[in-house]
Amino acid sequence: MGPIQIKQILSEANVGSEVVVKGWVRTKRESKNAIFIALNDGSTIHNIQAVAEPGQINEETLKLITTGSCLKVTGNLVESVGSGQAVEVKLTDVLVYGTADPDVYPLQPKKHSLEFLREIAHLRPRTNTFSAILRIRHALAFAVHKYYNDNGFYYLHTPIITASDAEGAGEMFRVTTLDLNKLPRTEEGNIDFKEDFFGRETNLTVSGQLEGELGAMALSKIYTFGPTFRAENSNTTRHLAEFWMIEPEMAFFELEDNMNLAEDFVKYVIRYALENCADDLNFLQKRLEEEEKSKPQNERSLPLLEKLRFVVENAFERITYTEAIDILMKSKPFKEKKFQYEVAWGVDLQSEHERFLVEKHFKKPVILTNYPRAIKSFYMKQNEQTANEPGPTVRAMDVLFPGIGEIIGGSQREENYDKLITRMHEVGIEPESMWWFLETRKFGTAPHSGFGLGFERLILFVTGMTNIRDVIPFPRTPKSAEF
Ligand code: 4AD
Ligand code: MG
Repeated sequence: MGPIQIKQILSEANVGSEVVVKGWVRTKRESKNAIFIALNDGSTIHNIQAVAEPGQINEETLKLITTGSCLKVTGNLVESVGSGQAVEVKLTDVLVYGTADPDVYPLQPKKHSLEFLREIAHLRPRTNTFSAILRIRHALAFAVHKYYNDNGFYYLHTPIITASDAEGAGEMFRVTTLDLNKLPRTEEGNIDFKEDFFGRETNLTVSGQLEGELGAMALSKIYTFGPTFRAENSNTTRHLAEFWMIEPEMAFFELEDNMNLAEDFVKYVIRYALENCADDLNFLQKRLEEEEKSKPQNERSLPLLEKLRFVVENAFERITYTEAIDILMKSKPFKEKKFQYEVAWGVDLQSEHERFLVEKHFKKPVILTNYPRAIKSFYMKQNEQTANEPGPTVRAMDVLFPGIGEIIGGSQREENYDKLITRMHEVGIEPESMWWFLETRKFGTAPHSGFGLGFERLILFVTGMTNIRDVIPFPRTPKSAEF
């Protein structure tokens, strides 16, 4: 459908055929004997080279052919005499769709820093690095749907506007139709949300999990895949205010089944990228190697493809939170007081601790389970306390990845109505406000589990990028939301 794309022309390499190529100019080079125009249409990392004889393109038109301009080139596909490409287009005609004044077009052919490219988020998809990332992002999204579809899961669309705070962390963006300059007040002076379109206080979803549980209690295995929002003011390389999350939720799955699914799923999508995005991954691998040239040999990371293959081919380590604390307290950085944050049973692990476990101790992905109840969400299934645990734990699981830290958070869910209500009271959630959620425990309750994979964190790992703003087309962070 539509014009034939460069990817197809290059793969078919139908020498002798006439082709019409539409794309943006990456470079133009003029020599005594020929004019070379490298065109890219985003269908592949590879450019196609159009070659014209000197004088063949009139002077006026030639001046308009600059980096960033958009062309329609007609010509014959021939074997290339130059190195670097198997075929090229011997130009017979050219039309300039749109010019890009070299004095103002920011993407001139030179190396641009990722910081600079973040400032021109509207144009950066035209660079090799970002188009490669966007194609990989697409392939991973496709692999997610394929994996769940092939494994008997149904894609459930959960709401973006909701009245609940699934994580109970209070990091929500409010949604209201009220005029902020004329907020209606109740007699007590509070904002009167009854006047709102929704008739109550609503927010953008932080997670589709709670509605996902409703789906799992009917369809057995569901997954969500959509945008989620967190109004956390954390300006880190791992947090976005708007990110995409994949949340499978399964009836009749215990924590062990949940871990097996998480590991199998992540390996599947990474393998899918290895098998289907070889050109883009090779490009990114070379880019990383270039970047690391200045580092001493022993500080350089594994080549990207090797790192991905390692994760796919090796079992993840599985340990409990209690075991992790034990390892950390016996570790060198702990003894030498090198950790910035406290390590003690009961405190939440910080990224420095997670990274020690994954990168230094086990040197592979780790699934941490059975966290202290006090630092996890109200909906997690409570464990019987064992003798070696100083306090109550829940059946939580976090999957930690090298270079990233937490990539997945999940748990078995508390299916017992009374225990859940008691827990809600303890953490200050009004059970009435979640009556619909509680009814899953009242009518035909069942053991069930689920987890959430942060899609951008997965893409960070697969592409080898280090800043989460560089793996989503239009990042929303406290500092960047211009459009
Ligand atoms: O650990 P979290 O907060 O878990 C949940 O939301 C559960 N309701 C999931 C579930 O059990 N269905 O978030 C899950 C994952 C994290 O492990 C992380 O990868 C990602 O979502 N994540 C973020 N990614 C980017 N920016 C943020 N601000 C993120 N917050 C969480
Ligand atoms: Mg988490």
